[in-house]
Amino acid sequence: MGKAVVAQGEDFCAESAVASCELIIFGASGDLTRRKLIPALFNLFCRKLLPEDFFILGCARTRLDDDSFRQSLSEAVKERCAQSPPDLRERFLRHCHYLPMDYESGESYSALAERLRRLDRKHSPLDNRIFYLATPAALYCPIVSRLGECGLTLESRREQTGYIRVVVEKPFGRDLPSAMSLDRSLRRVLHENQLYRIDHYLGKETVQNILMFRFANAIFEPIWNRRYIANVQITVAETLGVEHRAGYFDQTGLLRDMFQNHMLQMLALVAMECPISFEADRVRDEKVKLLRCIRHFPLRELDKWIVRGQYDAGRVEGRRVPAYRREPGVDCRSRTETFVCAKLMIDNWRWQGVPFYLRAGKRLPLKRSEIAITFRAVPHSIFAGLLNHELEPNMLILNVQPDEGISLRIQAKRPGPKSCLATLSLDFSYCEVFGTRPPNAYERLLLDCLLGDQTLFWRHDGVRAAWALITPVLEAWRDDETITPLYLYPAGSWGPAAARALVECEGFSCRNA
Ligand code: BG6
Repeated sequence: MGKAVVAQGEDFCAESAVASCELIIFGASGDLTRRKLIPALFNLFCRKLLPEDFFILGCARTRLDDDSFRQSLSEAVKERCAQSPPDLRERFLRHCHYLPMDYESGESYSALAERLRRLDRKHSPLDNRIFYLATPAALYCPIVSRLGECGLTLESRREQTGYIRVVVEKPFGRDLPSAMSLDRSLRRVLHENQLYRIDHYLGKETVQNILMFRFANAIFEPIWNRRYIANVQITVAETLGVEHRAGYFDQTGLLRDMFQNHMLQMLALVAMECPISFEADRVRDEKVKLLRCIRHFPLRELDKWIVRGQYDAGRVEGRRVPAYRREPGVDCRSRTETFVCAKLMIDNWRWQGVPFYLRAGKRLPLKRSEIAITFRAVPHSIFAGLLNHELEPNMLILNVQPDEGISLRIQAKRPGPKSCLATLSLDFSYCEVFGTRPPNAYERLLLDCLLGDQTLFWRHDGVRAAWALITPVLEAWRDDETITPLYLYPAGSWGPAAARALVECEGFSCRNA
């Protein structure tokens, strides 16, 4: 393939302008707002994708005024955005305001309503509001019910036609019963079409590209099934450990933190049927259908299907790092998993018998997320006499990050008089072809929320299907610690040897093991 180039491109990029709106961020003094939301909003502002009369109202318990809030946002923008010319930064910050709040107190919500009325007069936006819950999940219900009590979530509140949307971050519950109860509480106040459940993996360009790749090309569909595909390996490897999030992570574990959401979303995109159209609900219908086809883990022999591990001390990127149990804030006897590798089977006609291995872990040797699709070997090799090894099967690798792109590994003749074969990689790199790195996932997701496009957000039935799969495993682990061993693995390794064995015992090679 050599160097890939864009033959036709710009015409197909649809970036619509956003109608006037106001964005209210709860948890505005926190990490997510500083690291992700504000830089993403600033970038949208610079690309003229936010309307002139939008405003952001940050709310949190911390006592700040508009100036100190703007100061902290200005630093976040300088730190996180590749380009932040001072004049643009100034202009952006003029749209940002702050209100200290106690989330449990009715008075705070009256103050919020009053502040919004005043800001409305000043900025005169249309009747469109987005409430972004960047708070701990325990606050979702109290905040949304208070907003409901004050009439702030009613779309007809000013007898106009504006929208009210609420964005919630994962985790959407801790298991199936808690997710259902959260859902009931949110939907007492909001309609499903007002709820935007964020999974930032869906905002990554390369994850979105899975659908384009599969359904905008005719050549892959005929081979995208059990006849041609031997196995699929989805990996999310991180070098980071628990960092400053021990309080959350030690109570959560990797199965809830990464599997129930990011990993299952990627699996759904790779394995789902073609939706009847690219509309949000039609795409989500197919994803849910796929999630429901995943075979539930056989609890009697769980260790043959799922391997869990926790990182021990080791070296990552040349640096010595402590064991998980020695990390600040982690219980020194913690049995929380920081690594999971699982085999999943999909019980439908397309995928019967094809194992999907999903693996995610912290403190692995490198940061990489990829989907590797291994095709079946040729039925009979006429080159057996020339080689002292088996022909390598073809492999298609969708690189989600950090080297966003697609590679296809094929066999080809090596130049020279003898009939030698070599494995080649046909590579397409986003960076090289488009001359730029893909935008931050939050930019895309915030823009979609502003535009009212729910395609890249979880729907309630998808959340339920994902928890229905994972919850029995969480319960089995809770009720019987020995049901699957918790292996310790050295930080900087590819996880417990048992994870590699899970793949290799079926005669497949394990990616990067
Ligand atoms: C988050 C998890 O959803 O995803 C984190 O809570 C994880 O634990 C992060 O580190 C990984 O995201 P990314 O985009 O860096 O792969």
